[in-house]
Amino acid sequence: MTNPLLSLTDIHYTYAGAAAPALSGANLELYPSSRLGVLGDNGSGKTTLFLTAMGILKPHKGCVTYAGSQLKDEKEFRTLRAEIGYLFQRSDDQLFSPTVIDDIAFGPLNLGKTPNEALSTATEMLDLVGLKGFEHRITHKLSGGEKKMVALASILAMRPKALLLDEPTNDLDPATRERLISILASLDIALCIISHDWGFLDKTCTSFLKVENGMTKPTECIPHTHIHTHQGGDATHNHE
Ligand SMILES: Nc1ncnc2c1ncn2[C@@H]1O[C@H](COP(=O)(O)OP(=O)(O)O)[C@@H](O)[C@H]1O
Ligand SMILES: [Mg+2]
Repeated sequence: MTNPLLSLTDIHYTYAGAAAPALSGANLELYPSSRLGVLGDNGSGKTTLFLTAMGILKPHKGCVTYAGSQLKDEKEFRTLRAEIGYLFQRSDDQLFSPTVIDDIAFGPLNLGKTPNEALSTATEMLDLVGLKGFEHRITHKLSGGEKKMVALASILAMRPKALLLDEPTNDLDPATRERLISILASLDIALCIISHDWGFLDKTCTSFLKVENGMTKPTECIPHTHIHTHQGGDATHNHE
């Protein structure tokens, strides 16, 4: 059996001033070919788990292991952040350049690519996410769904070994949601996706983890009775 690319072991984290811990013994293992869906109620600790995985929050107890090494200092987490693409729950936390093309080219430039290479990758990724022609648009003036796809293009431009996506379908119209499903299917890398969109998780993931009160447990599958696939010619039906 191959080793996990990323493991979080017994993670504990309490926000400053919070009455209760956000995470109290959470675990996650992401294998190189994992397609792991993360489910859980609002406030259960899903986003906090991703933030500790990326080293943005430092757990008070527990460890993060990436590619076989336990990560301790900021320098080690920088390697992880260069190799794992993280899509923030709020795109405004992710995008910071004035124009779309600058935002997407930033990652490749930071990885040492030439301006020409970075520009060519950025243009290719913009096309992939369906936003051809958006190069010089002002990032902060885009719609929520457009921002989400620009953020996705900016992480894909870094050719990541894995993606952590935090509620990626929020704000997406149905066609863009379908585009995202096919982009993810075309990638040959590990995926870990937090979502309340169970139909989306059903189409993109093969194993599932439930977060409950800051703790994790593997779960067989998502409750299929709640997935609205809307397939076939059944125009009139209700969901009960
Ligand atoms: N910056 C923060 N300061 C204090 N408490 C926070 C902060 N961010 C999140 N929390 C709290 O930590 C818990 C877990 O939050 P979060 O990981 O965002 O949950 P989820 O993503 O599952 O909805 C919640 O109770 C939330 O209110
Ligand atoms: Mg969240």
